[in-house]
Amino acid sequence: MAIAVVSSGIERSFPEDEIIVSKTDTTGKITYANQTFLNVAKYEESEILGAPHSIIRHPDMPRSVFQLLWDTLFAGREIFAYVVNQAKDGAFYWVFAHVTPTFDDAGRIVGFHSNRRVPMPSAIDAVRPVYAALLKEEAKHASKKDAVQAGVAFLTRFLQEQGTTYDELVFAI
Ligand SMILES: Cc1cc2nc3c(=O)[nH]c(=O)nc-3n(C[C@H](O)[C@H](O)[C@H](O)COP(=O)(O)O)c2cc1C
Repeated sequence: MAIAVVSSGIERSFPEDEIIVSKTDTTGKITYANQTFLNVAKYEESEILGAPHSIIRHPDMPRSVFQLLWDTLFAGREIFAYVVNQAKDGAFYWVFAHVTPTFDDAGRIVGFHSNRRVPMPSAIDAVRPVYAALLKEEAKHASKKDAVQAGVAFLTRFLQEQGTTYDELVFAI
């Protein structure tokens, strides 16, 4: 059963020399979480294994960013992204994530792997307004599908206007 987590508004950080690691199957169900993941997210390993990764989803994260993540991973490419997560106790924590597909010998995608480090505070300041604008755009649409489409279109337009790509944006901030 899903655990109903209420945002506490309290921010949590983690040591700069630690990496939050998790792995998933191809559907996003967690197959591995390291001790730092458990310490920061405040879950027991038994609660997290087999759970969808959205268990730590924060409501401030735009759907369109996850769409970009999944599209990139299923295209067989890595992605770097800023993500705000929600721990079991309602605290939030920002991470800079590097997510990669894992392939078998035949080149098929068999799962995904994410390593997350402490982001630069200046990067979070830069990303917050972009995500807030995406959320606002997505909120105009009642269905999840329409919201994702509108968010992706908004993000694409925003990046074109800035003359950049998501990857370039992520590394420029
Ligand atoms: C390897 C991997 C790591 C992920 N890590 C996170 C994460 O830290 N936080 C998060 O909210 N979603 C993460 N996701 C994305 C989730 O699977 C999911 O798409 C997202 O939480 C949105 O869920 P929803 O569509 O049910 O709202 C990850 C996905 C993969 C494949």
